[in-house]
Amino acid sequence: MTVTDCRLISLPRLDDARGSLSFVESGNHIPFEIKRVYYLYHVPLGVERGAHAHKQLEQLIIAISGSFEIELDDGHEKARFYMNSPDQGLYISRMNWRSLSNFSDDAVCMVLASEPYSEDDYFRNYEEFLAAVTENRTNG
Ligand code: TYD
Repeated sequence: MTVTDCRLISLPRLDDARGSLSFVESGNHIPFEIKRVYYLYHVPLGVERGAHAHKQLEQLIIAISGSFEIELDDGHEKARFYMNSPDQGLYISRMNWRSLSNFSDDAVCMVLASEPYSEDDYFRNYEEFLAAVTENRTNG
């Protein structure tokens, strides 16, 4: 899985005089079943979150409020995304290192995830992540 498997997904958006409504359906707008939802908020100025990769987990990240940046790195290529719209989600496939930064004061980062929380699914060490990427590619 590489950064090219990751993409911005435009979510449905219904606007009328009462405001806007967006929604996400498993298997329709995103290619996985949602088993967990978590969100980051009150992130202090200058703090970076993430800085890890997942062995199996797939995610959709949405800037529900405010803005932040996401850098993806598959061990070979990098890509940067500026998130500032609640009708856009960034789909992240497995085995991509992600770092989230430049959170605005009002940022709420909502994450839809394909599995419950499991610490065993994390690479928290970048060198170990790179070694696993190389091994995967060598083994085809
Ligand atoms: P972590 O994934 O490191 O946060 P981030 O990548 O956003 O900086 O998680 C921080 C802590 O929260 C860590 O101790 C694990 C715990 N945690 C849960 O218990 N459940 C969850 O669903 C998540 C995402 C984290």
